[in-house]
Amino acid sequence: MLWTAPIWSLLTGGVLGHNQHVFTLASTGADASPIIPGANLATAANLSAVNADAYSLLMHPSFPGHRMRIKKSAFCDPTVNAYTGYLDVDYGAKHMFFYFFESRRDPTKDDVMMWINGGPGCSSASGLLMELGPCSLDLEEISSNGTVWNPYSWNTEANVFFLDQPVGVGFSYADYEETVETTEGAAKNVHAFISLFFDTFPEFVGRRLHLSGESYAGRYLPAFASYIVDQNELAVAQGRRPANLTSVIIGNGITDISTLYPGRYEVECGTAALEVPFQKISTCVRMKIALPRCQDAIKRNCVEQLDMMNCDAAFSFCDAELSTAYWESGRNVYDISTTCEENVMCSKKNTLIKEYLDRPDIRQLLGVDPLFNFTVCSHDVGLGFHSHSDMRRVPSQHHVAALLERSIRVLIYAGTYDWQCNWVANKLWVDNLDWTGKAAYAVAEWHDWHVDGKKAGETKSAGLLRFVTVRGAGHMVPHDKPAESQAMVSRWLAHQEL
Ligand SMILES: *[C@@H]1O[C@H](CO)[C@@H](O)[C@H](O)[C@H]1NC(C)=O
Ligand SMILES: *[C@@H]1O[C@H](CO)[C@@H](O)[C@H](O)[C@H]1NC(C)=O
Ligand SMILES: *[C@@H]1O[C@H](CO)[C@@H](O)[C@H](O)[C@H]1NC(C)=O
Ligand SMILES: *[C@@H]1O[C@H](CO)[C@@H](O)[C@H](O)[C@H]1NC(C)=O
Repeated sequence: MLWTAPIWSLLTGGVLGHNQHVFTLASTGADASPIIPGANLATAANLSAVNADAYSLLMHPSFPGHRMRIKKSAFCDPTVNAYTGYLDVDYGAKHMFFYFFESRRDPTKDDVMMWINGGPGCSSASGLLMELGPCSLDLEEISSNGTVWNPYSWNTEANVFFLDQPVGVGFSYADYEETVETTEGAAKNVHAFISLFFDTFPEFVGRRLHLSGESYAGRYLPAFASYIVDQNELAVAQGRRPANLTSVIIGNGITDISTLYPGRYEVECGTAALEVPFQKISTCVRMKIALPRCQDAIKRNCVEQLDMMNCDAAFSFCDAELSTAYWESGRNVYDISTTCEENVMCSKKNTLIKEYLDRPDIRQLLGVDPLFNFTVCSHDVGLGFHSHSDMRRVPSQHHVAALLERSIRVLIYAGTYDWQCNWVANKLWVDNLDWTGKAAYAVAEWHDWHVDGKKAGETKSAGLLRFVTVRGAGHMVPHDKPAESQAMVSRWLAHQEL
């Protein structure tokens, strides 16, 4: 099949202040029309034409109102080409920041992967600098530049993006305080970003794309991937090349809210995480009695039909009866084997990331717009999503099933020490998933998987779906078990058994 070649524009401009009209640089002067006149824009773009001194501006006629600013950067991984930039959306009113690292193996052939953190409202910089990025924040003060090399980075075998989304998160911002408050709203910007990127750089056209993320990404990614699949049909109809979306990878996600509490019960009062339950028997009995009521209330008021007021009441009941005791225990909600004080990922992570990314020299290296400070986790964005009951409104597992039916591979992994988006909750929804492979998955055998001869966890799969546990890891698996998580991703990308 033939695809019409995109009409291209690559223009180089200076670093833009946020008040400048972003499209004026693209036009020849007086005419600041966002629809770029074709005449001066027929240049084909490729990444090697992008340099570190100034942003290159990229536009595409299929996405009027969108523009990508990209520059090369010596940030984080000196062994590969690294880029940072913004996608300016909605005629320049919203700006989404990204980091892009080429693969350490073969950028010209390796797949492309996007990573996003959850929240909702948290920056993907925490994934980059604390989990799977090419460099990690230097917590031991052994490095002169603030970071240390991560040999287990996921760009070992893939070209990886880290996207700060939605606006208001990380270095992403809006000019007029516009907000994105739903996953469906966020999906449109993510799709535009991906389309622009793949249509922009001929070297990545048709390359396999994987969407990966953690935590609230269990809600984000099924919706983002579904939107991309649906938009792909439109692209094909219009003679454009679709994004080659191949897989979705979710770590300790929140996907089906109805399995959350039974999972937490097993983690606290069963042997799902620790060999001996840590919770008091009296508490466990109380939880056991409350559990069916909690599940029934969620089923009636949130799942079978959504009644916002009663659904909120159901969650209040469940939290009061099934979460209070955990919070009182003082244990870290992201890792039940530690307390928050002992665990740097709980106590200091956000402060350290912000301190590093707000350093003037680092901001300059990244080329971020001067007027906006970095936000690790935006309270306002979180509240916005909450006000739309974004987490409870859509049963995201249906998106996952629909993706599987359309040949998108799905990897669900979970660290077993997480309480928040625990592995049992994930196992339960994957077991219940209503798709054509359900029966095959039900009878598939569990087996251990190993890294360097040591057991890393258990796994089970059928067709395009794989479920993986990572033993002894908390919520942030790539931080807790870097070698294991990199091996898992490597085998997934290579279509190997675990
Ligand atoms: C990429 O752009 C550079 C500079 O414009 C050019 O020299 C090179 O041939 C281009 N490469 C490809 C693969 O188009
Ligand atoms: C920072 O320093 C460490 C050594 O301390 C080095 O391994 C790493 O590559 C450096 N990072 C950058 C971005 O230059
Ligand atoms: C997706 O990538 C695979 C592997 O490179 C390739 O075989 C396939 O044709 C691509 N599909 C599209 C639609 O580009
Ligand atoms: C950014 O942070 C600095 C230092 O904390 C502060 O002085 C400044 O007002 C902040 N800027 C914005 C736009 O919030």
